[in-house]
Amino acid sequence: MVNVAIVGVTGYAGEELLGILLKPPAVRITSVSAKIDKPLHISEIFPKFKNRIDLVCAQPNIKDIVADSELVFLALPHTVSMEIAPKLLNAGKRIIDLSADYRLGDIKVYKEFYHCEHKDKKNIPGAIYGLPELYRQDIKNASLVANPGCYPTAAILALSGVLACDTGLLDLTTIFIDAKSGVTGAGRKIAEGFLFSEINEDFKAYKVDSHQHMPEINQELSKIAKKKIKVTFVPHLLPVNRGILETIYIKKTKKLKAKSQKLITLYKKFYNQEPFVRICQEGVFPRLKDVVGTNFCDIGIQEEADKVIIVAAIDNLLKGASGQAVQNMNIMYKFPEQAGLL
Ligand SMILES: NC(=O)c1ccc[n+]([C@@H]2O[C@H](COP(=O)([O-])OP(=O)(O)OC[C@H]3O[C@@H](n4cnc5c(N)ncnc54)[C@H](OP(=O)(O)O)[C@@H]3O)[C@@H](O)[C@H]2O)c1
Repeated sequence: MVNVAIVGVTGYAGEELLGILLKPPAVRITSVSAKIDKPLHISEIFPKFKNRIDLVCAQPNIKDIVADSELVFLALPHTVSMEIAPKLLNAGKRIIDLSADYRLGDIKVYKEFYHCEHKDKKNIPGAIYGLPELYRQDIKNASLVANPGCYPTAAILALSGVLACDTGLLDLTTIFIDAKSGVTGAGRKIAEGFLFSEINEDFKAYKVDSHQHMPEINQELSKIAKKKIKVTFVPHLLPVNRGILETIYIKKTKKLKAKSQKLITLYKKFYNQEPFVRICQEGVFPRLKDVVGTNFCDIGIQEEADKVIIVAAIDNLLKGASGQAVQNMNIMYKFPEQAGLL
């Protein structure tokens, strides 16, 4: 039995975490907290949890969290996580942080894209990037898991199938990622740009080639390819609640043109043992409806004479956030990896 605390439970990711963590029998939720002004029973905030859990949501009390839990999920905005994480780590607690605070190894890049100084440089080197498909062995013993961003999860899973197998197959200077996300990707904030009347029936690009997830994608792809990679990344806001779909274009090199084995075969082999990656049959491409509400990443591949097109889809709140966080917990505590997630 593992005792867990959820900090940031009133947000989209925290709410999702609570829903998932109520299912596995080997997990006990000991505390739920948020920025909240006055303590409220969790069922007053989310009536759907009435009669399912008897906890009051209040501001996080580090002393109580340390006393009552061994694993803490931080579903907090960036900068808030790095205020809390060191206190928990010093007390010997394990953390799965859903924010971006421990994902980037280079604090200069963090400052450039998140517009603030990093306040906990000490714990960055020990943080494990929580993408199970690539770092499962390291996650097992991690004290601090940096749960990946939603856009990077889809992009890295879409591309690592080929990068990890042979870096000579594609022209890595030509990776173009056309990404679309549902509105929950921005969190439960009140802002004009996220009003129903602004988003409904609309579709637009934003943060073109400057989104904060771009350096995370570059960092992880560079590690896999063992050379510096700089993608072109254009996110779009989709008028749906949840789901991410990314279409990725890359030019082939001569080496791939001469290769007899199809990329799709290579991907099927690469992800053969992965419980949450599904490779579509040839000519079939992912759609949001097949992944929303699940922890799966669906990947479709189209090979042309001179280029490859890869399409990946996930639920931003599950494989892109809370589902992946629970997958990481399952790995850390040697639970079946799919527990609570199917
Ligand atoms: N949404 C996604 O699709 C997604 C995907 C991957 C990763 N993430 C990351 O996961 C984290 C949470 O995302 P989200 O979408 O759930 O955000 P959100 O809806 O804005 O929720 C943020 C949560 O943090 C709490 N909080 C804020 N400041 C706090 C403080 N000083 N002390 C205690 N609690 C505080 C909020 O409490 P109040 O409600 O009381 O203000 C709320 O519970 C973010 O870092 C985000 O980037 C999100």
